[in-house]
Amino acid sequence: MRETAETPKLFAPAEGIAGIVDRYGGDRDMLIPMMQDIQADFGYLPREMLKELSESLCVPFSRIYSIATFYASFRLEPPGEHRITLCMGTVCFLKGADRISRAIQREFSVGPGGTSPDGKFTFCPVNCLGACALAPVMVVDGEYHGGLTVDLAVNLLRKIADAGKPTEATRNGKKKERGSKKK
Ligand code: FES
Repeated sequence: MRETAETPKLFAPAEGIAGIVDRYGGDRDMLIPMMQDIQADFGYLPREMLKELSESLCVPFSRIYSIATFYASFRLEPPGEHRITLCMGTVCFLKGADRISRAIQREFSVGPGGTSPDGKFTFCPVNCLGACALAPVMVVDGEYHGGLTVDLAVNLLRKIADAGKPTEATRNGKKKERGSKKK
């Protein structure tokens, strides 16, 4: 399991990099919280912001970049309009999650952890979502969809891509997302 580094939003956007650095007294040991602040504002870590942070702290960009890629919670590209969280845990896997994953990747040209070229979907395969009774299950924009087949999953996502919201037809066992484990 990869480590995570999530924190709530901590600063106002108008502060910019200088404001963030000032907030932490320019302390390089607070590099990660500074990066978290950037992501809290932008939804991801824009390369230009990281370069500015690098220059401001006199920390090599390569170090900042390695931190950004190490922590699963950091994103280097803007998130998609919709977030797909597909369970790849044992129960879901045995019930076809791998086939669903491949179909989603093929249909929407999106890799694990990536965002589709049209910006519609960010695809996040994870371990057990804690809803094994619904297997195979995926969460789209916080809503659970269980008992999926390849066709059900792809059709659901096509409808979301077209209409911008899920339909009841393919929804099974809907409930509020409670969180997930990273792979
Ligand atoms: S294995 Fe998929 S929800 Fe538990």
